[in-house]
Amino acid sequence: MSTTSSTFNPGKGNGEPVGIAILGHGTVGSEVLRLLNKYEDDLVHRIGGAFELKGVAVGDLAKVRPGVPKELFTDDAMELINRDDVDIVVEVIGGIDYPHEVVLAALRAGKSVVTANKALVAAHSAELAEAADEAGVDLYFEAAVAAAIPVLGPLRRSLAGDRVLSVKGIVNGTTNFILDAMDSTGASYDDMFAEAQRLGYVEADPSADIDGHDAASKAAILASLAFHTRVTSDDVYCEGISNISATDIKAAQSAGYTIKLLAICERLIDDNGQETVSARVHPTLVPRSHPLASVDKSFNAIFIEAEAAGRLMFYGNGAGGAPTASAVLGDIVGAARNKVHGGRAPGESTYASLPIADFGDVETRYHIDMEVDDRIGVLAETAAVFSDRGISLRTVRQEEGGEDHARLVIVTHKAKESDLAATIESLNNLPAVKAVNSVIRLEGE
Ligand code: NDP
Ligand code: HSE
Repeated sequence: MSTTSSTFNPGKGNGEPVGIAILGHGTVGSEVLRLLNKYEDDLVHRIGGAFELKGVAVGDLAKVRPGVPKELFTDDAMELINRDDVDIVVEVIGGIDYPHEVVLAALRAGKSVVTANKALVAAHSAELAEAADEAGVDLYFEAAVAAAIPVLGPLRRSLAGDRVLSVKGIVNGTTNFILDAMDSTGASYDDMFAEAQRLGYVEADPSADIDGHDAASKAAILASLAFHTRVTSDDVYCEGISNISATDIKAAQSAGYTIKLLAICERLIDDNGQETVSARVHPTLVPRSHPLASVDKSFNAIFIEAEAAGRLMFYGNGAGGAPTASAVLGDIVGAARNKVHGGRAPGESTYASLPIADFGDVETRYHIDMEVDDRIGVLAETAAVFSDRGISLRTVRQEEGGEDHARLVIVTHKAKESDLAATIESLNNLPAVKAVNSVIRLEGE
């Protein structure tokens, strides 16, 4: 396998090709390698200089990897990144601790880094950005959010002159794949989870997807870039989809909604003009007529609202080997161009340093499904619990329940999270309420 172009070789100033090391040869890494080979001639022209793959670090050297010369592989990532002829390190291992160690070491050794690792970036962005600045190298991570969809580049560059108000969307392919299949085909959660795993969408630790942490990392990255404020995964309120049942999905359908796991990043402005940033991830009811409702399978979609640009929509493949490799390759080309021609990619911009909003102050609409006694006066008793907390009801629907109870489905107007939480606690203590079956937030109306 040749990875060096003999036809075009201004190299990186000293005539040497740009040296690339790939860490990881799994779903994403193997595709990066395949596409680097496939597009080599084009990439050399796009970079404006030759590049050469110096090695691929893996966990298990004994694994059979057809079509790739054995001598390229090593199980010593540290040794590979410290080679003098390596200029760009591509981290596609996953996890946090070990990639943190190697990425930091690479940056400190003066290598530009391209990573698809949202968990790493969301947890350690400050330290990594500082190391990149000190060494004067690039840190690229377009693939970390929504895989193939170019959304970080537009936030970093195209919208650098605008004022972003919100970034909202579906940023986790696995959960969208599962929720969409449960909604459209009635498929079981377990079957669809297994299929998502087979297709390579699911993280090594599946709870990262199911419990919303993967989407929370992406929300942190999006919010940081959108609002020029450091937002880490710890700043993101996060609920996953494990509590969403087939009954919730059916109930949503009959009310004209679909359930999506949304990441919502907003610039909030209080009555005194104080700005804060809110980033949250939770299952959300979306009207079936809303564009997000038709985002199916493992696709992702992100809406950005900016003051001057207005509304922008980004849609595409949010997971999988080749789509992710596309974004990684774009970053490799960017980093390699800078090695050949000089210059650096835009770095971290956190000058605005907006405070993170208290989650209790965030306002949303809610859809509450509960079982109540089927007797005169229950509706008034229940409604009083909401009005006591200043929550206004938008719709109240009573449906057939069992023999001695009725189902009450309430949609509220916008209310504070803290008021809603207190309301649910009071409802649970109200003798007329047998059970609060679900509380799901509502967007897009
Ligand atoms: P995989 O689990 O498929 O691959 C991980 C790779 O890392 C394997 O090749 C493994 O080696 C290698 N590895 C493990 N430990 C080490 C080590 N100590 N040194 C060197 N290599 C090691 O993961 P993915 O390719 O799916 O994901 C990689 C990254 O990309 C993650 O951060 C993920 O979040 C991100 N990402 C993934 C997407 C996807 O759809 N899959 C989409 C967007 C981002 P071995 O082959 O020997 O086991
Ligand atoms: N596990 C992730 C997802 C991969 O399902 O979206 C893409 O980041």
